[in-house]
Amino acid sequence: MFLLDTLREGLADLDARGLTRRRRIADTPCAAHMTVDGRPIVGFAGNDYLGLAAHPRLVEAMAEGARRYGAGSGGSHLLGGHSRAHAVLEDELAEFAGGFVDAPRALTFSTGYMSNLATLTALAGRGTTLFSDALNHASLIDGARLSRADVQIYPHADTQALAAMLEASEASVKVIVTDAVFSMDGNIAPLASLVELAERHGAWLVVDDAHGFGVLGPQGRGALAQAALRSAHLVYLCTFGKAVGAAGAAVIAHETVAEWLLQRARPYIFTTASPPAVAHAVSASLSLIAGEEGETRRRHLDALIARTRGILARTRWQPVDSPTAVQPLIIGTNEDTLALAARLDAEGLWVPAIRPPTVPVGTARLRISLSASHSAEDIDRLEAALVRMGEPT
Ligand SMILES: Cc1ncc(COP(=O)(O)O)c(C=O)c1O
Repeated sequence: MFLLDTLREGLADLDARGLTRRRRIADTPCAAHMTVDGRPIVGFAGNDYLGLAAHPRLVEAMAEGARRYGAGSGGSHLLGGHSRAHAVLEDELAEFAGGFVDAPRALTFSTGYMSNLATLTALAGRGTTLFSDALNHASLIDGARLSRADVQIYPHADTQALAAMLEASEASVKVIVTDAVFSMDGNIAPLASLVELAERHGAWLVVDDAHGFGVLGPQGRGALAQAALRSAHLVYLCTFGKAVGAAGAAVIAHETVAEWLLQRARPYIFTTASPPAVAHAVSASLSLIAGEEGETRRRHLDALIARTRGILARTRWQPVDSPTAVQPLIIGTNEDTLALAARLDAEGLWVPAIRPPTVPVGTARLRISLSASHSAEDIDRLEAALVRMGEPT
């Protein structure tokens, strides 16, 4: 059939360009040591930065939440699905991570993708100009497109270029949007300069801290807390599928912003609320993150990051200057990156090959994602494999 043939041609084209993606099946929880596709493997693929995804306290909280509230929320937040667990979590989040603004309020979402679509479509629209970092996450790019705002892409982390673009703009509403920690590079956005620009130009500054929440700043309060920033212009997005070890996301901002999203953001209004048990587990995770256990895990993670940076700097490929748990090694072509990932896989190390469109063409990379659940021996194995692979064959 013609329609199927068109798709087959498209799939063959992806394959020819080394862009076919493949799912792998895990039979064990997300952790440093997993069984994947039936084999034991050391995982460097997930974003469970604090190693909490399989923590007994979270597992128990999820079970307790299910016993208390059932398996599903049963409706959207505005039509019956908003539970006590969601309400408690929102208050905890505003208290924990809302220190960057007066009268903080949090709104929870079932995924970070949804929170980003919601925030950008509610804050920006026709007549608005949205200024977006060139390396922003796909969910922010899609939110920007869906908003129908005029979108201007500024060169990655280039605040001078952004300043000139803001200066030249006559838009009545301006929104700057950035990842806090760039998901495929691991570097941190120049947040202090961005706040200054947002205030000078009367713009919103939307900061997506999917990869910083739980790991950066005092008690893991995130990238804004790490930089000690405070501004009424800030809108903060955090996700729970990474360091928090569960699922979902939240927007934290001045209570008026949160109320605007609740009233206007279609990706908030027209979808079923996530299961209350998930919110209950996120609450349990927040108390671990803020406490002694979180501190110990962050310290261990920091040591692994420092060691891995040293290892990557000695390979013949190009590391990225990343202070976070995301440690990329830029290889270049899709084929070379896939070949290296396959060799690591043969040694029992799962390091994903990241290719376009996730990263710019010609910068395909291995994305080594570190977790507090990794041991020093896991990093020894990675180092030994990279050294062997870097030797002339
Ligand atoms: C920077 C960034 N924002 C948002 C998301 C989406 O979050 P979620 O997985 O909860 O949809 C991700 C990754 O998944 C991300 O890396």
